[in-house]
Amino acid sequence: MSKITVIGAGNVGATCANVLAYNEVADEVVMLDVKEGVSEGKAIDMMQTAQLLGFDTRITGCTNDYAATANSNVIIITSGIPRKPGMTREELIGTNAGIVKAVAENALKYSPDATLVVISNPMDTMTYLAYKTLGLPKNRIIGMGGALDSSRFKFYLSQALACNANEVEGIVIGGHGDTTMIPISRLATYKGIPVSRLLSADKIDKIVKDTMVGGATLTGLLGTSAWYAPGAAGALVAEAVLHDQKKLVPCSVALEGEYGETDICIGVPVILGKNGVEKIVDIELNDEEKALFAKSAASVRTTNAVLKEIKAL
Ligand code: LAC
Repeated sequence: MSKITVIGAGNVGATCANVLAYNEVADEVVMLDVKEGVSEGKAIDMMQTAQLLGFDTRITGCTNDYAATANSNVIIITSGIPRKPGMTREELIGTNAGIVKAVAENALKYSPDATLVVISNPMDTMTYLAYKTLGLPKNRIIGMGGALDSSRFKFYLSQALACNANEVEGIVIGGHGDTTMIPISRLATYKGIPVSRLLSADKIDKIVKDTMVGGATLTGLLGTSAWYAPGAAGALVAEAVLHDQKKLVPCSVALEGEYGETDICIGVPVILGKNGVEKIVDIELNDEEKALFAKSAASVRTTNAVLKEIKAL
């Protein structure tokens, strides 16, 4: 029996649970929230789509009842506040650090062997907090930012190319922040053709910029942060782990010398399988990309330093 717990049944958590159920990723999906009735209600609403959509996954909801999450294979953390228009993800740290740490500790008591997928923002710093405080092996802590940012990169590329988004390849590494993301346009392709042969440098530059502020653009439109792609990105990471898919997905993981960095969680391409992060893939950055990566890491470290100031570490 496979089981996934989604902590936080807000927009992102509920979307993630819905994608997991619709795709029958696990036999059981449990949503847990602090707000009485919310996850229970959303679970029933989703279960009432089972016969409409034809899925067999059982979805349940609970209010702060961690016992109901016992023996989960994967725990996805979406708890915390989302950003409002004009806010950066980094500004959420004061509220979200305490919440993320507490919910992860509670959930791991009941599922000590689970792999943790972190969605809450600031995502790289929340992943780092989990890495520093929970005592889990580093391969079992995965921040999903790169999966989301890469899907936005591919979306913008497909719009410019007027092509099917599934026929575009592209990865985004670095931090999951408006100024820290690094879409690697040099390696982006359409059906194996480098996009630099198909799009002008100016167009590619605009795609990179649009990708970096992709989340902020949606926050401006929606009045709160996005949820469909963030939820689906969390589900994709969970599925790759649970089904031992050996997929290459850019994720925020602990580095110990890879990409020239240590003591940080930041986005790099990794292979995801039953052991969580099974390998960190070295894509050999050029000098410009290396400089961007170092700058991105320095910026993520500045946010991580706040964890000490607020005594979360
Ligand atoms: C985003 C938030 C979830 O990028 O970080 O939409």
